[in-house]
Amino acid sequence: MLVTQSTYVTLDIGSSSVRVMVGEVRRDSVNMIGVGEAKSRGIKKGAIVDIDETVNSIKEAVEKAERMINASINHVVVGITGNHIQMQRCHGVVAVSSEDREIGDEDVNRVMDTAQVVSIPPDREIIGLVPKQFILDSRDEIKDPRGMIGVRLEMEGTLITGSKSTILNMLRCVERAGLEIADILLQPLAAGDVALSEDEKALGVALVDLGGGSTTVTVFDQGDLVGTRQIPVGGDHITNDISVGFKTSKEEADLVKLNNGHAYVPTASDEEDDSFEVSKIGSREQQLFTQWQLANIIEPRLAETFELVDKEIKRMGYDELPGGFVLIGGSAKIPGIMELAEEIFDQNVRIAIPDYIGVREPYFTNGIGLMLFAHKHMRIQGKDLSAKLSQPGHQEQQGSKQVKREQVKKETPARNQSGGKGSVKDKVSNMFKSFFE
Ligand SMILES: Nc1ncnc2c1ncn2[C@@H]1O[C@H](COP(=O)(O)OP(=O)(O)OP(=O)(O)O)[C@@H](O)[C@H]1O
Ligand SMILES: [Mg+2]
Repeated sequence: MLVTQSTYVTLDIGSSSVRVMVGEVRRDSVNMIGVGEAKSRGIKKGAIVDIDETVNSIKEAVEKAERMINASINHVVVGITGNHIQMQRCHGVVAVSSEDREIGDEDVNRVMDTAQVVSIPPDREIIGLVPKQFILDSRDEIKDPRGMIGVRLEMEGTLITGSKSTILNMLRCVERAGLEIADILLQPLAAGDVALSEDEKALGVALVDLGGGSTTVTVFDQGDLVGTRQIPVGGDHITNDISVGFKTSKEEADLVKLNNGHAYVPTASDEEDDSFEVSKIGSREQQLFTQWQLANIIEPRLAETFELVDKEIKRMGYDELPGGFVLIGGSAKIPGIMELAEEIFDQNVRIAIPDYIGVREPYFTNGIGLMLFAHKHMRIQGKDLSAKLSQPGHQEQQGSKQVKREQVKKETPARNQSGGKGSVKDKVSNMFKSFFE
């Protein structure tokens, strides 16, 4: 396989699945070359509860992807999400350095660095910075000041921070799985990049990620991400409800959900032809149910979830979002979900599915988002986030990966000392500069 500069590996560590995606990005198009998926055993409600199990799931997913691409994976771009994420306004100002007073990359980098020199509590870590506008000698609303002439450059933006311990626990799992972290990206921000149009983001839109253990709602307005909240309810709760309602095992409840599920009672089928058998737990007895009966279990749970989403949006200060609602995540696959969401939100609703061969599922939107976002970073900043894939069979390279894994283990404690080289901040301080596109 030809390894190009534009090959990326992304890692989405979810409550249901850990997904590794390998793709080649050319301009804005992705050629998916490998996907590895493993059942997630160490994550509950979107948070790591068991390091070893999480490491094993990551390794399993990576190995599956490695087999598919016939190369070994060393570097990954990791998505992060959760309620520990916070935003705060930030501001930086610098004197333009070059003699001819033309703003260059260096000035932009410096002003963004100074904006990050703010006092944040010791238990928090900067994940990224989203510039809102640049101000050059009192001229404001500048999107990209490079090439302009001026003396004093300012930047106003949003600083994204996360809980240091949550980030470090995640990094630790990734490193223990033998991987190096090319970058950490705020997953909903990256997903928003592929799932939402510029118009939607300008008007005000909610991106709702319906996962397994959680639902994440992220609001974009006037082009910017304004807030993200994670609700600890997802598709796994639906499975539980089915298991209780139909008195059947969780495994069977999950199959019933995937094969016969429907989210909207008024359009669910009550025909005998669409009925299905479910075994009763602890007995050989088979029970017959219709899709309508199943929808009567699924709908209330999803309706409750959407009401919680609505509450979070109101808490962020939004009564109305003219850009509507966009659904992603595995649970967005349940038929009838759009109708139910439209009824509850009283807004336009659509499901965002990546339009690339091999990943046309709403649970791949996060991974594709991370990939395209990472690519933009690299192009704009000359930052190398691409995957260092090595061909298997080359004894040397295989060996060097082994060594790397050992080194990673040894390096891990040092990484915990904040502020030092290799700290999270160090890794991610240049994030989100893709704004310049
Ligand atoms: N065809 C389908 N119909 C109904 N539900 C589905 C379907 N496919 C997947 N799901 C559900 O989607 C959920 C998993 O979604 P996803 O993979 O986006 O979650 P995750 O990212 O692992 O979890 P989280 O985002 O909560 O951490 C599971 O509950 C699964 O049962
Ligand atoms: Mg998810």
